[in-house]
Amino acid sequence: MDRIRIRGGRSLTGIIPISGAKNAALPLMATALLSDGPLTLTNAPDLADVTTMSGLLAQHGLRVERDKQARTITMSGAATNLEAPYDLVRKMRASVLVLGPLLARYGQARVSLPGGCAIGTRPVDLHLKALEQMGAEMEITAGYIEARAPGGLKGARIIFPQVSVGATENILMAAALAKGTSEIVNAAREPEISDLAACLMRMGARIEGLGTDRLVVEGVPSLGAAVHPIIPDRIEAGTYACAAAITGGQVLLGGARLDHLGAVVRILRDAGVDVAEADGGLKVSRLNGLRGTDVMTEPFPGFATDMQAQFMALMCVAEGAAMITETIFENRFMHVPELSRMGARINFHGASAIVRGVPKLSGAPVMATDLRASVSLILAGLAAEGETIVNRVYHLDRGYERVEAKLAAVGADIERLPG
Ligand code: UD1
Repeated sequence: MDRIRIRGGRSLTGIIPISGAKNAALPLMATALLSDGPLTLTNAPDLADVTTMSGLLAQHGLRVERDKQARTITMSGAATNLEAPYDLVRKMRASVLVLGPLLARYGQARVSLPGGCAIGTRPVDLHLKALEQMGAEMEITAGYIEARAPGGLKGARIIFPQVSVGATENILMAAALAKGTSEIVNAAREPEISDLAACLMRMGARIEGLGTDRLVVEGVPSLGAAVHPIIPDRIEAGTYACAAAITGGQVLLGGARLDHLGAVVRILRDAGVDVAEADGGLKVSRLNGLRGTDVMTEPFPGFATDMQAQFMALMCVAEGAAMITETIFENRFMHVPELSRMGARINFHGASAIVRGVPKLSGAPVMATDLRASVSLILAGLAAEGETIVNRVYHLDRGYERVEAKLAAVGADIERLPG
């Protein structure tokens, strides 16, 4: 298995191009099931999760053409198989996003239950309850969701008791083809949701309330072809902002958008990092010391849970203490023992961690059990004295395109060691 070696201590300078967003690409690809297409997505990132989603759609019977050079994915045709198998859903939870579109278009679907994952139990009850409200009948047998809506789905008023990105996406896609009007109350407001709605509208869907927590969808009988550009990855941008900050560098995040970063910008500024809009993206620099800054994860526009581990790495070398509270996932501090192996001073209890900054981290062999935890170890490695080896790189390849090449191009001493 590949590993990444980092020799820390260099500050980063230059331009880091930001790729298309993984978390936008996956639901956008699932929308291809709603029409015969073709649906062409541009600015598509070259990531393992995108390959997994392409495989899932292909096994449903769609034609998937991916041009990595041109960064496009084109999907077309009708589904001939309505089952999403365990092997693919287990690999990537976002596979459950095919449920809404399959039910809405074909009146039935058989989708494996995703099960737990490293960062928590992550149930899909909100997705299932909302689809039931739209007239679907659900049964769980042999680990699979067996869903049926023989007469098609009907519009409904869905009030989510809790904000869920995935459930909002599944219901938005289903509602686009349901009979009548749907109202989604307490909808997630993440930029990826607005991007999904924008793409659906290009395909002919009728949606109001983009960017708000109340989406109104007027179902249409069919959807058509579209070409849609995927938004830049705000989490990749936030991660590289932390890379510039932790090394005391100055980078331009090419294509990144300030309005997509939500509270991350304010928190970075509070911590002593300069973030400003510039020609072609966002300029991030850190000239003075880092300050310990408290943060609590929240749904957008709050501080993203997907940025928690990276911000913690930054706080490990800040002056003073920072309290980091995770409110979205119950088991998302797995990077703590690994950061501690690099000399960080962190205590955690329940959902909160106290980070007491140290002047220097020291390089060490480390490994992580999820995507954002892995990249936090890379950030720590960039600032640490000596050599850090990050194992289990496959987590990184799920969500970061050529992480070592992008960082090396701005001056980091980093390389991939083929395993
Ligand atoms: C998406 C993102 C993930 C991000 C997360 C929160 C993708 C592919 N993944 O995941 O990177 O960390 O949003 O911003 O876009 N929940 C339930 N029942 C449900 C659904 C969710 O209890 O039916 C809970 C979850 O366990 C979690 C919280 O709601 O505690 C938020 O989860 P959700 O927003 O659904 O996350 P995902 O869509 O899985």
